Amino acid sequence: MSHASAPGKIILFGEHAVVYNRPALAVPVTQVQADVTTDFVETDFFTETRSKTDGGEENWENSLLIEAPDIGLFSTLRALLADSTPHPLATVIIRTLQTVGVTRPPALKIRITSTIPVASGLGSGAAVSVAIIRALSALFEQPLSDEQVNQLAYETEKLHHGTPSGIDNTVITYAKPVYFVRGQPIETFQVGAPFTLVIADTGISAPTKESVGDLKKLWEANKSRWEAVFDQVGGIVKVARKAIESGKWEVLGPLMDANHALLQKMTVSSPELDRLVLAAETAGALGAKLSGGGRGGNLLALVTPASAEQVASALLSAGAKQTLITTIQ
Ligand code: MEV
Repeated sequence: MSHASAPGKIILFGEHAVVYNRPALAVPVTQVQADVTTDFVETDFFTETRSKTDGGEENWENSLLIEAPDIGLFSTLRALLADSTPHPLATVIIRTLQTVGVTRPPALKIRITSTIPVASGLGSGAAVSVAIIRALSALFEQPLSDEQVNQLAYETEKLHHGTPSGIDNTVITYAKPVYFVRGQPIETFQVGAPFTLVIADTGISAPTKESVGDLKKLWEANKSRWEAVFDQVGGIVKVARKAIESGKWEVLGPLMDANHALLQKMTVSSPELDRLVLAAETAGALGAKLSGGGRGGNLLALVTPASAEQVASALLSAGAKQTLITTIQ
């Protein structure tokens, strides 16, 4: 038997511009996590679910059961592969088995649970991938390096999200604050003094692929204009990193506002996000911005420990579906 877990993540600064090679800052969120347990099972266990292949021969994919009760999924790998576009879970399982050189695994069960809200910018998909890769490779006694885990998780993200920068899988794999530049070796950073954020979920699920795709169209139509906007974001990220490292976290408030304004320009905010950003600031947040793909999903509000509860409840009253108070350290 093997078990692995992976945290959620939030992007503090630099989403979207990071796709265009500007730096971004992201941190793990350890209050939420994905958990994966794998275990070999008796083949009899599958009598109910197993079917025969066309040739009447049994296929090992029928003896690999995936349980994800949070999303109501109880399926064999074969059934997941039968969809017209293979399920992300099937892809990551197949690729992990290939990487560890297992071509016909014995009957096994993979159980996935997660407390990370789905499609909200907290990296639930990447966290599930990372936990599956680690649990499955451990089950076959071939644990993979962080680099290999990260690469495999990135390949899965690429199949399902178009052109991801790789920031989500990187921060989740390493579970450390990351200063991320696409294609460059991972750089972690220190948090000089802890600071508190309220993460609020708009409850609107918005595919990152679409906001990234729409921005790409704008960029293609006027590259110099958008490159200049991305440069501004890159500048904010660098100042924010220094502020975090030197413990001057209050400075992050205005930087978050400036980053949010640039994200609005990129058309990846939404009336709901803008309304909640305003509600957070009216309730005493020092700054706020959307986080991740935008158009829905989550926003972040910088707060003092004393004002955290008040900002969180103002956000709920203003329509946020869930809030999470987290300390970055
Ligand atoms: C999504 O979490 C972050 C984006 O910058 C996309 C990406 O980096 O792949 C919007």
